[in-house]
Amino acid sequence: MTQLAYQVLDGIALIVMQNPPVNSMGHIQRRQILNALERSGEDAQIRAVVITGSEEVFSGGADITEFGTPKANRQPTLRDIIEALDEFPKPVIAAIDGICLGGGLELALAAHYRIATRRAVVGLPEVKLGLLPGAGGTQRLPRLVGLERGLDMIVHGKKERAAALADTRLFDLIVEDGVADAAVAFARRRLEAGDAPPRTRDIRMTEPDAEAFLQVVRRNISAANPRFPAPMQCVEAVAGCLLPFDEGIRKERALFVQLMSTPESAALRHVFAAERAAAKVPGITKETPRRVIQRVGVVGAGTMGTGICMSFLNAGIPVTLLDLDGDVLARGVATIRKHYDATMRKGRISATELEKRMSLLGTTRMYGDLKDADLVVEAVFEDMAIKEKVFRALDEALKPGAILATNTSTLDVNVIAGFVKRPEDVLGLHFFSPANVMRLLEIVRADRTSAEVLATALAVAKTIGKQPVVSGVCDGFIGNRMLNGYRTAGEELLLLGASPREIDRALEDFGFAMGPYRMGDLAGLDIGWAIRKRRQAEHPDRDFSSVADRLCEAGRFGQKTGAGWYRYEEGGRIPHEDPVVADILDAYRRENSIEPSSFTPREIVDRCVFALVNEGARIVEEGVSQRVSDLDIVYLNGYGFPLQRGGPMHYAQQVGIFNVVRALRRFAAHSRIPDFWQPAALLSSLANSGEALT
Ligand code: 3HC
Ligand code: NAI
Repeated sequence: MTQLAYQVLDGIALIVMQNPPVNSMGHIQRRQILNALERSGEDAQIRAVVITGSEEVFSGGADITEFGTPKANRQPTLRDIIEALDEFPKPVIAAIDGICLGGGLELALAAHYRIATRRAVVGLPEVKLGLLPGAGGTQRLPRLVGLERGLDMIVHGKKERAAALADTRLFDLIVEDGVADAAVAFARRRLEAGDAPPRTRDIRMTEPDAEAFLQVVRRNISAANPRFPAPMQCVEAVAGCLLPFDEGIRKERALFVQLMSTPESAALRHVFAAERAAAKVPGITKETPRRVIQRVGVVGAGTMGTGICMSFLNAGIPVTLLDLDGDVLARGVATIRKHYDATMRKGRISATELEKRMSLLGTTRMYGDLKDADLVVEAVFEDMAIKEKVFRALDEALKPGAILATNTSTLDVNVIAGFVKRPEDVLGLHFFSPANVMRLLEIVRADRTSAEVLATALAVAKTIGKQPVVSGVCDGFIGNRMLNGYRTAGEELLLLGASPREIDRALEDFGFAMGPYRMGDLAGLDIGWAIRKRRQAEHPDRDFSSVADRLCEAGRFGQKTGAGWYRYEEGGRIPHEDPVVADILDAYRRENSIEPSSFTPREIVDRCVFALVNEGARIVEEGVSQRVSDLDIVYLNGYGFPLQRGGPMHYAQQVGIFNVVRALRRFAAHSRIPDFWQPAALLSSLANSGEALT
């Protein structure tokens, strides 16, 4: 398989990497680059070499899919190529356009000269995969851009436009366009001048007070990244550039190998692949037609409607916001402006950008004004009768081919699609609150949603910077259905004797930003109470009651009432344990003849997280989710699952499915809700076969 082109232009070899989509440096690519280098080294006619990619991409770096497989270390390795470049007797010029990241930049750093277009984007983002640049990047980048700047780029995985680095030694020339031609002309000039090829490794670091500077950085970085080892190891590797070059390289290598085997890096690499997989749907290909979305309508100017508006306005898409109530509309517009004003005050957008976004926003109380919309997102009250009215009105008003989306969190999208004469154009777009901030977008595919509409929704998600995950129709879709499992496990722990604080603390130590009871107090307990009451009325044969009802009956709605699962000082947000809650729980336990037990933090985490995993496995079994890793993406992006754990399903895989199933059976054996704990068939069968949960 050819992954590069080799061309000779009057004594200059041009090596063009051609390994789409991102010229990643997999084994074949590496072998072909080294072969091409050797060929040009042996050919006496060749006097210089130019290595380049396409206008879109120089290289996205090492092939991440090879990590953890034997291919990753199959020779030649990236380090072999870089050493060959470094020692190459003829001048080598890297000609960079588009993306140049990770191992791709490391390759360019070892070339003798670098030429880039202004728009080229360079960076060493390995830290985002829980790694550090392992092919000389930590030693060469600081030599070319300075210690402080190099460290900043490496520790934060920052990408920079070439133009922004014009004041450093990184580039020998920056051009507007035609970088390969410019590199060939540059090579000729160097050959005429007769310069010996300079080597980055020979640059001596002469930063004053480097050690003192590194000490400050170490303190800051360790405080800012308590849960990830990679940022700190990046600092240590960069500190190695104060040592002799080969020593620094050895240190970098040792740290890279160490990080590669950490659970945090495994989690981040899993997330990288899972995020990209989530945007793929079997049967939807590049050829599936997409509709053009140029104008959007949003119905309902409440919490979600205003956030959804901003998601589109931020991407430069005009929005018409509809609400029946003029005052609510005016308040919605004011909310949006207030948000943009605050963003401007923080320096994140200019006054011109603010006005541009506001100018894209229109309001109306008439459905007829949505006639030009290509997509309408409904975010009115969570009530099927109101949704019906809205969808019937939209069906009347919208042009053929417009997409009708609902933001419902609990209602049946198939029923909603049944209200219109074009059910193939209906789907759920479940944004998370605050909709302009949260990255997750659950795309709910109803039974009759067309492939074209689904493909368009996936493209829209990308345009507005959201992470899509496709869900089928079920109560709560993927995320809220899993959340129910987590909450049920928490409630059982409370009844069996654990306190809200013990449960919160165990889960926060595990890595959740907030335990479920602190979170409940923040969000307001009355919301769940209202939903339970509604569900009880809809299904009188089932029991939706919760011990939380007792708190609500006592007027404890959380922070807003100064009391919920915890007590709060007047206007305060610090949760204090409250004997009143302990009494409510004790009374509840007595009524249910439960003798309280104590639980270790480990048992608390196992119960809550394995409940998520078990519900997740059922969701996959039922076909509501198309793949296991999608569940991780939902839970990481929508529900604060700790990133360093890679999501509940990845975590379960690390613990071992066999162990998860054993724990579930143990929980079931002593539970009043044994069915809840019955291991999903998918988990049981994997526990038996020993296969992975993928
Ligand atoms: N290896 C393998 N595949 C890669 C890749 C890589 N380094 N970078 C991207 N891809 C794949 C993606 O998985 C995706 O595959 P798909 O089409 O099957 O879904 C495809 O390329 C396109 O990627 P995106 O969907 O992310 O496309 P974008 O245009 O939005 O972004 C990008 C392109 C900026 C290159 C982004 O993919 C990215 O940030 N990639 C990772 C870059 C990185 O971390 N490089 C360092 C690698 S580690 C390394 O080099 C170690 C060295 O120091 C030793
Ligand atoms: P909200 O109560 O803040 O806003 C609803 C808006 O709909 C109000 O402005 C109201 O005036 C308007 N409205 C009511 N009937 C209307 C009609 N017939 N025509 C036009 N406008 C009408 O509600 P919120 O929280 O924004 O929720 C909206 C939807 O989003 C619901 O379906 C909810 O389940 C869903 N959702 C809510 C989330 C949240 O965290 N609040 C998260 C995800 C989804």
